[in-house]
Amino acid sequence: MTAWSNRTAAEGKAIALVPTMGFFHEGHLSLMRSAARQAGAVVVSLFVNPIQFGPAEDLDRYPRDFERDSALAAREQVDALFAPEAAAMYPEGFQTRIAVTELSQGLCGAGRPGHFEGVATVVAKLFHIVRPQVAIFGEKDFQQLAIIRRLVRDLDLDVEIVGQPIVREADGLAMSSRNAYLSAAERQSARCLSRALRWGRELAAGGETDAGRLRAALESMLAADPTVTVEYVAVVHETTLRPQQQIDRHSRLALAVKIGRTRLIDNGLLFAPEQG
Ligand code: PAJ
Repeated sequence: MTAWSNRTAAEGKAIALVPTMGFFHEGHLSLMRSAARQAGAVVVSLFVNPIQFGPAEDLDRYPRDFERDSALAAREQVDALFAPEAAAMYPEGFQTRIAVTELSQGLCGAGRPGHFEGVATVVAKLFHIVRPQVAIFGEKDFQQLAIIRRLVRDLDLDVEIVGQPIVREADGLAMSSRNAYLSAAERQSARCLSRALRWGRELAAGGETDAGRLRAALESMLAADPTVTVEYVAVVHETTLRPQQQIDRHSRLALAVKIGRTRLIDNGLLFAPEQG
């Protein structure tokens, strides 16, 4: 991979990297299209990163379909699909971790200890292997995006980080490889996430400024469906990710629920023009 990148750089082409865990949907494809707009060569990495999964999480059953993924990537302007084996990324004796300490604590970090260390570590490795000038990430995982931005600044990595908006299904559900886990009934229940985002925005637009009251309203709306277990409803500052008491122009509403065994997340600015 690095030899390919060096040759590409010698041809005078900038490289844009799209890191993924595969099982592509329109969200992934939108990142690939953005990458093609940013640079002369696009690399997509496809690696289900074992070190970002907790022991009780879904590493073994995470959906995989390499043939379908390569066919989808081939239809986009993707120059290389980098799909390393776990043993190549983490050979015997591997023990280094990168921790972006404060930003990893709350939200998804609270319920998934070690998750963001696994993400930061693999992304740093991918940057070193692929040597991109630009890397594209989705706002779907906005805590991850904030952590990567911090990582790049803190370690003086020479990569520009570009965030892309959430791509949604027609009914509002944010696209996710994990949506494949949902039964038909659970898929219906999953609409509660984008509905909660929309309602949160309506409350904010209607003059609600108290984050605690808004959270309580949304929590009880989500909990009204017995198949939904709320992990968190949070109002945080868009860049520091610190919880806010008062809603303002920087407020991001972040949601995590479990529907059956499937963990789903969603988020959006409370005063965003986009619709949830
Ligand atoms: P994965 O879940 O495969 O997501 C790959 C990229 O696609 C991430 O940047 C994610 O935010 C983005 N993405 C996912 N769903 C999206 C949607 N509906 N709209 C827009 N973008 C979306 O995130 C990971 O993999 C991993 O943690 C990774 C960064 C690859 C490290 O292992």
